[in-house]
This record gives sequence, structure tokens and C-alpha cells, in this order.
Amino acid sequence: MTAVLEARGLSRDYPVSRGLFRAKARLRALREVSFSLEKGRTLAVVGESGSGKSTLARLLTLIERPTAGALLIEGVDVAGAGGARWRALRRDVQMVFQNPYGSLNPRQKIGRALEEPLLVNTKLSGSARREAARAMMEAVGLRPEFYHRYPHMFSGGQRQRIAIARALMLKPKILVLDEPVSALDISIRAQVLNLIAELQETLDLAYVFVSHDLSVVRHIADEVMVIYLGAAVEIGAKARLFETPLHPYTRALVAATPVADPDARKPRAPVIGEPPSPIDPPAGCAFHPRCPQALDICRRERPALAHKQGREVACWAVEA
Ligand SMILES: Nc1ncnc2c1ncn2[C@@H]1O[C@H](COP(=O)(O)OP(=O)(O)O)[C@@H](O)[C@H]1O
Ligand code: SF4
Ligand SMILES: [Mg+2]
Repeated sequence: MTAVLEARGLSRDYPVSRGLFRAKARLRALREVSFSLEKGRTLAVVGESGSGKSTLARLLTLIERPTAGALLIEGVDVAGAGGARWRALRRDVQMVFQNPYGSLNPRQKIGRALEEPLLVNTKLSGSARREAARAMMEAVGLRPEFYHRYPHMFSGGQRQRIAIARALMLKPKILVLDEPVSALDISIRAQVLNLIAELQETLDLAYVFVSHDLSVVRHIADEVMVIYLGAAVEIGAKARLFETPLHPYTRALVAATPVADPDARKPRAPVIGEPPSPIDPPAGCAFHPRCPQALDICRRERPALAHKQGREVACWAVEA
């Protein structure tokens, strides 16, 4: 089966200023990230703030181009696609942002907001667009009379439903959800997560679900990719990764995630200290200054992702 979405060594650098008289530095926001995702499956991407999750989300949704690496949608290399083909590929992957308010026009009725992608991208008639918007509102659990309301008239959870509905209007194959429930009250997170899961089932969607919160990922993922300073350090099936995390960073994250109460407000501090800057990352393993198991080699040589114990892991201390 061809993967619906495949990333091969995706990297993204940003030039950053270090002051007036110094040359621009290169910030490596994402480093050689690879994965393959099939229809109906969810890959969760986890990592601390600043680890490159949103950068990856922007590359996957074709909002930005990678500095290096390739992105394939149903086997088609995005970089090689021009004009109409590229626009079609772009429709196949849609994004749901953390803050739906930012992506909704406050002066536009939500019915119109849902119709807009159809207006821009299709030749559907006005009545067909309205029909499609109403059907989508129903699919995401919004009442039809909400069609004429403005974004500020909705709760956070309803607004996220609207954002999800909007992302689905063009019938994408893949949704990239960037912290989709992080801004929501704990009490409504589960409802929105359930909606996300139901829609995947009915529409056979592939999800890339980005989150800093492992207790959310536990509910939704099939596979999990843990990233640290822009690079994947462990990738594997969810159950395995949660039961026997191998990388010391994954272990720390899992240990800090409450199991019995997934809605707990205060997880313990995951790892000691702050992550280093991606402008000037540590030599060797980027995690070594915070790693309780660091060996000599860790300070000198960067461990590559390697197949170990049924998953991919980048760590010198993990046995094959
Ligand atoms: N447009 C940009 N210009 C410069 N640096 C950026 C830009 N976007 C992101 N970064 C940097 O890239 C790194 C990864 O950021 P981001 O992808 O937003 O991480 P996350 O979503 O995991 O918090 C951070 O160090 C961030 O400051
Ligand atoms: S490679 Fe070394 S420093 Fe890095 S996570 Fe493994 S043991 Fe820790
Ligand atoms: Mg982010």
C-alpha cells in the first residue's frame, strides 16, 4: 500500500540575526525527519516547546518549503509538482491550528467561513456551497442555525469544531492538527478528541497530530514520533513506546505523564533544565547536557536513528 503521506529527510533552517556586525546564524528548526503514514492512521509528534513541531506541520501542509528533503503525497513528490498539480496536492493536506480564533475572520459568519474554501477552489454553485457547509456543520456537531453566527458567539470548543469543519470542506486526505486541544478547557478536550477520532473513522483520514502533551497523544495515536531540538529521537507504535520507552528523553516524558488521570492539570516537570538553543546545539547527542545516562561518546558523536528493539531510536546507550 502506498503511504498517503511520506516525509524523507525533511529539514528546515531559518536564518537568524545575531546582531548588527555578525553574520546571520543558521537555526536548524527541523533536521532530517522521515516517516510514512497510511490512510486512517494517526502519527503523533511530541516534543517540548521549540522542538520543531509547528515547523514540521507547516512543511507538511505546504505552507513552507523544506530546506532539504522530500515530501510525497500518495507517492507524488510535492517539489516536482507545478501549478495545478501542486494546488491539488495542497488541498489534500489541511491544517487545524491550536487557536481557531486566529484563523477565523471575526467579521465573517461561520457559514460563510465554511463556504470560502469552496468558493476559492471549486465551481460549486452558491446553493451547493451552502448545502455542503450545512452538512459539514452537522458532521462536526454544530446546529444548523449557527450558520449565521459570528466566531465570537462561540465557545472555544465550538470554535475548534468550526476550524475542523473548515479544514474538511475540500475533502482532504490528511489533516495536520497542531496542538488542536491545548488551548481548550480540560472539560471539553475529550469531546473534541472524540470528534477528531470519529471523523477519522468515517472519512478514512490520515492524521499528523502534534502535541507537547503525552496524555493527549495516548488517546489518539497509532504511532508516536518524539522530537528533540528538531530531530526525531524515537519513533514507534504507541503501546510499545508508552510501555517501554527506550530513549532517555522519551522515558522522562512518559514518566512525567499521569496514567490514571489523563486529565490531570499538573504533570511533573518532564526533564531537568531547559532545552538548549537550536542555533548552537550541543555537540554529539543534543540531549547529553540533560541526560542522566550520558556516556563519553555522547559528548562527541551524534547517534543516528537506528532500528532497535522493534522501533527507531537515536541513542548510544540503547542496546540493539
Ligand atoms: N520563522 C522563523 N524564523 C526563525 N526561527 C523560527 C521560525 N519559526 C520557528 N523558529 C524557531 O524554530 C524552532 C522550532 O520552532 P517551532 O517549530 O515553532 O517549535 P514547536 O512548535 O515545537 O514549539 C524554535 O527555536 C523557533 O524559535
Ligand atoms: S545518546 Fe547518550 S546523551 Fe544521548 S540520550 Fe542516549 S545516553 Fe543520553
Ligand atoms: Mg508549536
